Amino acid sequence: MGLGGNNENYKFSNIPYWGWNIMKILVTGGAGFIGFHVVKALLERGDEVVVVDDMNSYYNPQLKIDRLKQFEDKISFYRVSIWDFVELRKVFEKHQFDKVCHLAAQPGVRYSLENPFAYQRSNSLGMLNILELMREFNVKDLVFASSSSVYGGNTKVPFNVDDSVDKPISIYAATKKSNELYAHVYHHLYGFNCMGLRFFTVYGPWGRPDMALALFTKAIINDEPIKVYNYGKMQRDFTYVIDIVTGVLSALDKVNGYNILNLGNSKPVELIYFIQCLEKALGKEAQKEMVGMQQGDVHITYADIEKTKQVLGWEPQTSIEEGLVKYIQWYKEYYKIN
Ligand SMILES: NC(=O)c1ccc[n+]([C@@H]2O[C@H](COP(=O)([O-])OP(=O)(O)OC[C@H]3O[C@@H](n4cnc5c(N)ncnc54)[C@H](O)[C@@H]3O)[C@@H](O)[C@H]2O)c1
Repeated sequence: MGLGGNNENYKFSNIPYWGWNIMKILVTGGAGFIGFHVVKALLERGDEVVVVDDMNSYYNPQLKIDRLKQFEDKISFYRVSIWDFVELRKVFEKHQFDKVCHLAAQPGVRYSLENPFAYQRSNSLGMLNILELMREFNVKDLVFASSSSVYGGNTKVPFNVDDSVDKPISIYAATKKSNELYAHVYHHLYGFNCMGLRFFTVYGPWGRPDMALALFTKAIINDEPIKVYNYGKMQRDFTYVIDIVTGVLSALDKVNGYNILNLGNSKPVELIYFIQCLEKALGKEAQKEMVGMQQGDVHITYADIEKTKQVLGWEPQTSIEEGLVKYIQWYKEYYKIN
């Protein structure tokens, strides 16, 4: 199975094949949703990839196993937790990396209300371990995943990377903000080049089963009701995963100094419109249960991507209508639904 039978290709037309300098890149969280797509794209352009992932069961690890199966023997894989300094150090001892793409994390805003310590361990301690090992083994270039959640309850839109983000409203967001701060310290003290990417609600083939899109899709297929929070009026800047990948690869190529950038579609849509597009892609209507806001949720996310355009030359290419059709194609193929 390829990319859900969609035959999507990553476009790197600006990369001259013959002059391409192969890099050895550590991708943490490479069995995860975004990590999987990043690894796939790096391999396709000829880079050498080492993956570290602990394959935890926050969601069904079979999906992580199935993602990794796509790579066969093209990667070196280590089942290691990034909070385990001793085990992680062995990976750095074995490989001299050119760059690190740090995507492993405990994700999810809602779960951080239930289990805050998982975030402290994987996101805060994990990041510090990565930075310390990079320092010890003299790896200077780091691209890492931050999140639109750092904008917390900010009401000024679009969200700009220069806006104040000192008032997080979930532990998840607080750990992601701490990642940006840790990276700055290593940039300042040791001259690291760091690029923190604030992803905005990423969706697409091989997507996470804990996210609203997968939960909605499953419920609609099974004739079960879906909860439409804030009566469908909240807005999300849904961003297609292949667009995210293009941004991550560009960041890996251009990381220099210290930068925080938004990677978002910059076209927020109302939840109710999102559900309508999903119904269209599925050819089936949802049973909608209209409810109020959930604790820890925000009304709108909306990325200002002017700086990202300048620094990376990046622009998202995929509309929500198009992206959802591709997601459903993959979903039906992977979960064997007629
Ligand atoms: N998907 C989104 O919409 C979104 C939005 C904003 C930010 N992000 C960030 O992007 C990154 C990737 O997210 P994703 O959606 O692919 O999530 P994911 O859960 O699918 O991927 C994360 C991967 O990291 C691994 N992992 C978690 N803790 C680990 C640990 N302690 N040691 C080793 N591996 C560990 C998991 O097993 C998983 O395979 C995360 O840092 C996340 O916080 C994602």
